Amino acid sequence: MKTLPEIVTAFAKGIARSRVSLLGAMIVTVTTPFLFGAILYDVLFHIDNTYFSGAIYMLVGPAFVGGLVLVFLGLFFFKGKEEVRLFTLEYLKGYFTEPEKFSRMRKLVFFAVFLTCINLLIFSMLGYRAYHYMESVGFCGEFCHTVMNPERTAYLNSPHSRVPCVECHIGSGADWFVKSKISGARQLFAVAFNTYPRPIETPVHGLRPARDTCEECHRPEMFHGDKLVVKDIFLEDEKNTHVKTVLLMKIGTAGDRAISSHGIHWHVAPENKIYYKASGRDRMTIPEVTLAKQDGSTLVYRSGDADELGEEAELREMDCIDCHNRPTHIYLSPRVAVDNQILSGAIDSSIPFIKKKAMEVITKEYASQEEAKEAIAVELNEFYRKNFSSVAEEKTDQLKKSIAGIQKAYADNVFPEMNIKWGTYTNHLGHNDDVGCFRCHDEEHETETGEVISMDCDTCHTILAEEEADPEILKTLSGM
Ligand code: HEC
Ligand code: HEC
Ligand code: HEC
Ligand code: HEC
Ligand code: HEC
Repeated sequence: MKTLPEIVTAFAKGIARSRVSLLGAMIVTVTTPFLFGAILYDVLFHIDNTYFSGAIYMLVGPAFVGGLVLVFLGLFFFKGKEEVRLFTLEYLKGYFTEPEKFSRMRKLVFFAVFLTCINLLIFSMLGYRAYHYMESVGFCGEFCHTVMNPERTAYLNSPHSRVPCVECHIGSGADWFVKSKISGARQLFAVAFNTYPRPIETPVHGLRPARDTCEECHRPEMFHGDKLVVKDIFLEDEKNTHVKTVLLMKIGTAGDRAISSHGIHWHVAPENKIYYKASGRDRMTIPEVTLAKQDGSTLVYRSGDADELGEEAELREMDCIDCHNRPTHIYLSPRVAVDNQILSGAIDSSIPFIKKKAMEVITKEYASQEEAKEAIAVELNEFYRKNFSSVAEEKTDQLKKSIAGIQKAYADNVFPEMNIKWGTYTNHLGHNDDVGCFRCHDEEHETETGEVISMDCDTCHTILAEEEADPEILKTLSGM
């Protein structure tokens, strides 16, 4: 009868006899302490560095698993001739019928179980942390730096900057996790071989239906009433005059118990199904819209170019993304980007013509963000030195700060390296800078009986003030 140490020796000998196992054992020995330490550290303190985590979970982890596979492959298949008998039925039968062999096997099994437990522990920790790592904003947004930089930058400036990428791009459930990893592997290749499109294509055709993701947090049936939206606008005059547009947005609801669906979120009420066919992959031109009502009737709205729709035109059910296509990767128009910087105080509106000059410099084309940064500073400094020497001399600090604000307005929205210019990514929520709602609401889409999709200005909002310096309505609301 063999004792445990003897079995360990036999096991070690077995490994030593096969080169494949030996190689595997060497890999496992080298990686185990490092991997174990790193994972333990990650679990307890969290590793912040994306590249370090990447090395652990994408290189060392798989190497460890590969090493183990080699050990067992070597033990079972590449050992001496004699051991091949291990697999013959007769040999196995011997283990069960001869008491001495049986007891030896019991110990072997015990030893194997013991080893497996340790390996399972490392495996599960590795799997768990690797899963977390692949779900992290760092992995999605930083690992492929230039590729994801625009999306990540816009995301960090948005209301969803604390929502992990995967909450919208994958959502819950195993099937979408697997799907995302398959497309993720394809993307890794595209990055490795530099074949990815610049800019990255939008819309994302494989995106999970928004109702599965957005509605994990938002419930349109719980929206009620209207929302006051105040737009701060700075005119391109000497004083950069501050004016306001005030809109009452008819947010509406998808319907809840006694309240029937109405207003803007009427589109996503369970009783309304809206389908559309677009003429291109970009979904910008929508020649045909079908509204299927609860009572089973349908209305088909078609515009003039509907006859040109090909057979292959995809029929899509409208969801959140058809309006909120930029909930987090919000690329602003130059006007809004500059206005926001003035409003936040980054650009000093006491500098004459700063809005006008800002618009001029940020809408020029530059080869890279660095070039833009430099050119913007040079041009603005020169302009104020030449035309407003008092500003250049007395407001040096304000001018310097404002230039930084203007550089930021550019750098947050334009990424020449990825061919992202002003307006490359359109925003469907509105109709001023992009077509937006008017893709359907243009009164050109008609049913056979002549009904059109409304373009009436009061359908979606009431305009309470438009570019007024001191809107009456805001005074009324604040009780002054
Ligand atoms: C609040 C939800 C949400 C979050 C969080 C989010 N995304 Fe997106 N993402 C979207 C939507 C919606 C689209 C556009 C879908 C469409 O138009 O088809 C999109 C599009 C993209 C695109 C395609 C290019 C584009 O801009 O249309 C990339 C790349 C992308 N996201 C990467 C990321 C990364 C990286 C993160 C995390 C840093 C992230 N996303 C976080 C919702 C989100
Ligand atoms: C994990 C939760 C979560 C998910 C998933 C999520 N959101 Fe949000 N969303 C939030 C939170 C929290 C806020 C409020 C942020 C704030 O006010 O700072 C918000 C705000 C918003 C706003 C208001 C933004 C504004 O300018 O005030 C819109 C619109 C919105 N989300 C749409 C979406 C859409 C569309 C999706 C799906 C693509 C989505 N959200 C997915 C949590 C989420
Ligand atoms: C027909 C277009 C459309 C669809 C479809 C749509 N929304 Fe909206 N949503 C809007 C508009 C327009 C606003 C108002 C934006 C503004 O001016 O602030 C809005 C506002 C919101 C807000 C902010 C509400 C508030 O009171 O501030 C959230 C959150 C939101 N939508 C989530 C969703 C979700 C989730 C879905 C999908 C189930 C969805 N929306 C579908 C157009 C739409
Ligand atoms: C894919 C086509 C499509 C798009 C895009 C679209 N709508 Fe609609 N919308 C419709 C249809 C169809 C109707 C029903 C016909 C009508 O009432 O004119 C409708 C009706 C409405 C209504 C009236 C709802 C009620 O109470 O009866 C509002 C408000 C509205 N849309 C707002 C918007 C806003 C805001 C946007 C852009 C953010 C938008 N829609 C984008 C198709 C669309
Ligand atoms: C189908 C819905 C819909 C219709 C019809 C519509 N709008 Fe709008 N409008 C919107 C939405 C959505 C926004 C964006 C609100 C936001 O940015 O928060 C908007 C924004 C605006 C703004 C503010 C723009 C800015 O950013 O400064 C003005 C002004 C405006 N609309 C005027 C009009 C006028 C005039 C009409 C009639 C010809 C009209 N709208 C018809 C949905 C609509």
